[in-house]
Amino acid sequence: MTWLITGGAGYIGSHVVRAMAEAGESVAVLDDLSSGVRARLPQDVPLVCGSTLDRELLDRTFAELGVTGVVHLAAKKQVGESVEQPLRYYRENVHGLTVLLEAVVAAGVSRFLFSSSAAVYGMPDVELVTEDTPCLPINPYGETKLAGEWLVRAAGAAHSLSTACLRYFNVAGATRPEMADTGVFNIIPMMFERITEGEPPRIFGDDYDTPTAPVSATTSMSRIWPPPIWPWPVGWPHSRSRAISR
Ligand SMILES: NC(=O)c1ccc[n+]([C@@H]2O[C@H](COP(=O)([O-])OP(=O)(O)OC[C@H]3O[C@@H](n4cnc5c(N)ncnc54)[C@H](O)[C@@H]3O)[C@@H](O)[C@H]2O)c1
Repeated sequence: MTWLITGGAGYIGSHVVRAMAEAGESVAVLDDLSSGVRARLPQDVPLVCGSTLDRELLDRTFAELGVTGVVHLAAKKQVGESVEQPLRYYRENVHGLTVLLEAVVAAGVSRFLFSSSAAVYGMPDVELVTEDTPCLPINPYGETKLAGEWLVRAAGAAHSLSTACLRYFNVAGATRPEMADTGVFNIIPMMFERITEGEPPRIFGDDYDTPTAPVSATTSMSRIWPPPIWPWPVGWPHSRSRAISR
């Protein structure tokens, strides 16, 4: 089985690439390097530079690499920016996913794992968010992720594609310095910004006993029907308050 990791040069993607390679999977990366960094990837992992919007490139990549599974992480992910540039977010996150799924179906790829987001929930007025909590996104970013889940589920049902969606909350931590999260609106950079200003980091909740590594989803998804949607309240590799206490 050969997995194509879209957005594999990104913060989460580069961790997924290394974890899957270490688990013995054959992996390749497709990334337009808009926020990704080549140096995050191991030397021996093939990198195809280009966009999920480029159907020709996708067809060529699937054929040349013999891709049989896709982990789709490539996306624009800044909430504020999505409010200012909704058309760009819908084009990249929803249209990009449609083009990718068309190529997936045409190539006969059998498994598709989608990186959704807890942003699909909006601001739920509940103590504990579960799979059954209503999805009411409050910004275009969250909307594109919810629309993405619908697309993935519908394509999976219509084309016998095994699919799963992961709804991560704030992901934090890095296994090595060059793989650190540099996004200014992500949790670790925000924490350091507060510390630099002489303010303590703000914690909105306590620690939770959460599992790590959504990588395991790629092995279990082929056995699960109907396709699962997993909220993943996970710090990577540590949850929020544990990350702050370190
Ligand atoms: N970081 C978090 O806390 C978090 C939380 C919830 C969901 N997510 C989701 O996880 C995924 C990865 O997030 P991240 O934090 O690693 O972000 P990131 O910006 O570090 O990674 C995204 C990667 O996708 C690439 N990319 C973007 N658009 C592309 C396109 N059209 N074609 C090809 N490559 C493209 C970028 O160059 C980058 O390498 C995203 O889908 C994001 O929405 C992240």
